[in-house]
Amino acid sequence: MSRLTELIRQAKEKDPALGTELEREYRTLAGRRAFGLNFERHRPEAVELPGRPVRRGGKVRILPPRGSSERGDRRLWRVTRVEKVDGERWAHLSLLGDDEAIVVPAADLVAVAEFRDPIYPGLVPTGGVHLGGDKPAHTVVNGENFHVLKALTYTHRGKVDAIYIDPPYNTGARDWKYNNDYVEGDDLYRHSKWLAFMERRLVLAKELLNPDNSVLIVTIDEVELHRLGLLIEQTFPAASVQLVTSVINRAGSPRPGRLTRVEEYLLFVFLGTVSAAPWSSNLLSDDRNNRTETMPTVWFSAIRVGSRKALRSYYADTALFYPVLIDSETGAFHSVGQPLAPGKSPVDYKPPAGTTPIWPMSNGREQTWRFSREKMIEAFDAGTARLGRRDPETGLRPVTYMRPGTLASISDGTFVVLGRTEEGAMELGLAGEESATKPAATVWNRTSHYARDHGSKLLAKFLPGRDFPFPKSLYAVEDALRVVAGDKLNAIVLDFFAGSGTTAHAVMRLNKQDGGRRQCISVTNNEVSSDEQRRLRKTGLRPGDPEWEALGICDHITKPRIEAAVTGRTPTGEPVKGDYKFTDEFPMAEGFEENADFFTLTYENLVAIGHNRAFERVAPLLWLRAGASGRRITTIPRTGWDVADTYGILFDLDEASAYGRAVEKGDQVRLAYVVTDDDRRFQSVGRQLPDGVEVVRLYESYLLNFSFTGAEP
Ligand SMILES: C[S@@+](CC[C@H](N)C(=O)[O-])C[C@H]1O[C@@H](n2cnc3c(N)ncnc32)[C@H](O)[C@@H]1O
Repeated sequence: MSRLTELIRQAKEKDPALGTELEREYRTLAGRRAFGLNFERHRPEAVELPGRPVRRGGKVRILPPRGSSERGDRRLWRVTRVEKVDGERWAHLSLLGDDEAIVVPAADLVAVAEFRDPIYPGLVPTGGVHLGGDKPAHTVVNGENFHVLKALTYTHRGKVDAIYIDPPYNTGARDWKYNNDYVEGDDLYRHSKWLAFMERRLVLAKELLNPDNSVLIVTIDEVELHRLGLLIEQTFPAASVQLVTSVINRAGSPRPGRLTRVEEYLLFVFLGTVSAAPWSSNLLSDDRNNRTETMPTVWFSAIRVGSRKALRSYYADTALFYPVLIDSETGAFHSVGQPLAPGKSPVDYKPPAGTTPIWPMSNGREQTWRFSREKMIEAFDAGTARLGRRDPETGLRPVTYMRPGTLASISDGTFVVLGRTEEGAMELGLAGEESATKPAATVWNRTSHYARDHGSKLLAKFLPGRDFPFPKSLYAVEDALRVVAGDKLNAIVLDFFAGSGTTAHAVMRLNKQDGGRRQCISVTNNEVSSDEQRRLRKTGLRPGDPEWEALGICDHITKPRIEAAVTGRTPTGEPVKGDYKFTDEFPMAEGFEENADFFTLTYENLVAIGHNRAFERVAPLLWLRAGASGRRITTIPRTGWDVADTYGILFDLDEASAYGRAVEKGDQVRLAYVVTDDDRRFQSVGRQLPDGVEVVRLYESYLLNFSFTGAEP
């Protein structure tokens, strides 16, 4: 390559701009893999932001005239000046990378964000539904998923337990847009555009997943399966990947002269020590008489949480605060220690040689066990208490137990004892199902997974008269999530190609089956289908017009579907007709005891936004980071601080003591924000806050806390 390097050097001398450009291309080529997947990164992606004001310095595209169904000018322009003439705003534009300049009415422009530009995301609340008491809320965000994922790196880095995505399959049938244009079947760069699009998002997804214990599921069909498989291998080199073949269409899609397609695929990407949760069916076929009763979760945490009475400090005596001892080396159960004397800290406790104590601690707080030491010993003897998987970092194991209701179900024959684990814990199954705990197989063939019957037709019950192309079968998503989050009652599940919201709906069903408090974050944009787009353009509408946006997927389908699922009512207030089938059968009109909050992503302007407004825009992100439950702090209070259910914010450092006391009092507060640009003062306030509460610093210019650039992978 030295000849090439020399030529580049010469080119740089003659024409520095051309030489630099050549050098960059050469570097990209030279840096490519010898093996594996090679593709153009097509940088940069750009997203049109209808509705965002056109401002000086911003990038824009010129829209086609109203009523036209033309694609319009695809070039990017920079706004150099905006002026008002006779009440109308006019923008002076210069073409990016060229000297062409024109003046255009601002109303004929759409703002554009290139992925390499810094963005300052905000969230505007757009409603919700709250029937779930103190459960954490499911959230739906209307926005470009690349930017929402960026924002989630602030709120959920390493915290997500499962991601389920059903991205556009790139079939060539106008099923997805790259840079706001449908990618046609004859586009030479169709596959590499898709790969570039997916890679950018998978890299961010990886930052959100818990590296020690989580799973990514991506559904796909045969068009991109193999390329996606390689991309995943390259993006998640440490993961273990399995492919599931899933029959979704009994009749099949005929391919002239070829085989009839009846299936699609799910790639399961297992990270860290996560393992697939077994269930009463391996999903390989319909079970006897299509009946698959669920074996509900029977093991629950033995730590009491959730109220003041659950805290050690609530009690004068400490009968409920004692250590469960495990062998420090093997992690095996050893014994149950004596209660710790009042006033003594677990730190001062001297465990018997070779053992490690497990205390009833949660989020760094001293809680209590649900029962006395004597009962704990009995439960371990009887196999109705057990130790869960060892945490690779702390070496500790969670203590779980069977509730009295479960024991009653054993007595009345609903559950049978299938056997005991090596450590002596009971293994239960449903009576009549000899082998109630099987891992899922790698081929799924179940009636309940058929997309037309349990995707489109089911969706029509919740949203009569509204169309959405190819929703997944609710039960197929439920089964997939059960494999990866069935044993995680507090799992955080993310779907950033949420479409009609099937994933959130499936999470709610899982919660109902086992009393879980899982939460689902659904992200989807507000595009309309290709046919609808043509129709709307003809009527003179454009993206950004309220009539157009009201028909977008997120506003017209995703949010109303989730609301209808929770309330059991259609958007016109009718009870949803029909029953859930298969695993847990009940009338759809019963709804779910769940909460959901809806937001739209905004792109803020660092200079053109007031202090209070900037806070309002980031406020939902602060609440999301604190677990999305309870009250949201939405404005800057006069008192200089506010403490809600799970988090607090200190705005005025002179009020640090009052804030500290309020944080201390709030028994579910897990996060304390402190707004300051001053390092030293931040440290000193942090020291005054109770142990076990995560202290997070916020810059006074709120948007700066959430500034992201779209660096390439
Ligand atoms: C195949 S659908 C998902 C369907 C979903 N699994 C269901 O059951 O309804 C993919 C969805 O992702 C959305 N989408 C595509 N590209 C996106 C992007 N860049 N940002 C956000 N959403 C996007 C589309 O609007 C579409 O609704």
